[in-house]
Amino acid sequence: MTDRNGIFAGEDPFAIARRWLAEAEATEPNDPNAIALATVDGEGMPDVRMVLLKEIGADRFTFYTNYGSAKAQEIEVTGKAAFVLHWKSLRRQVRVRGHVVRSDGAAADAYFASRSLQSRLGAWASQQSRPLESRGTLMAEVAKITARLGPRPPRPEFWGGYDIFPSQMEFWADGAFRLHDRYRWKRPAMEDEWEIQRLYP
Ligand SMILES: Cc1cc2nc3c(=O)[nH]c(=O)nc-3n(C[C@H](O)[C@H](O)[C@H](O)COP(=O)(O)O)c2cc1C
Repeated sequence: MTDRNGIFAGEDPFAIARRWLAEAEATEPNDPNAIALATVDGEGMPDVRMVLLKEIGADRFTFYTNYGSAKAQEIEVTGKAAFVLHWKSLRRQVRVRGHVVRSDGAAADAYFASRSLQSRLGAWASQQSRPLESRGTLMAEVAKITARLGPRPPRPEFWGGYDIFPSQMEFWADGAFRLHDRYRWKRPAMEDEWEIQRLYP
């Protein structure tokens, strides 16, 4: 027996996430798909930064980045990440924790090809998270890459996606008197069924 309904209706947490994001697209001033992505380094020290969530699939969340970046190196060591979506306009939050796998095949190629030429050249020019002498150095790199690769640069090998396969997802919505609604989807292993639970706020 559950009293879960309205914006929390349905068994599939990916469908709820997609529905909420579609609502946020109508109400947020910009970047409704911006997530705060948390990783830990080899010593267990947490790190967090914003990235853009590019796809909510049937069983995964996908974002794109430079494989030489700090976040990528942390993910390569642990294979784990967490993220939070927060929409001030909706007063809602989605939290996700899970295992992370590189997505550097056809889907990454297709997404790279869909980006503006400037963004594609920018991805080539940026040695993300490494020290940079000056803005001029970066612009010179962009000019060099533009001359070398022309108008149709392929996806660089050092740039691509990561798929996050959740073991846990939580949906939170603001309620009167700070008595918010929280529901958690949890599964001990990927092949297990989701256990859905209401949590005290
Ligand atoms: C709204 C927003 C969206 C961003 N989206 C991305 C993104 O999709 N991919 C990315 O690599 N960095 C993105 N960034 C930059 C990251 O926050 C970060 O500065 C960069 O990825 C380096 O992080 P790292 O050194 O922890 O790897 C975004 C920043 C902001 C503020």
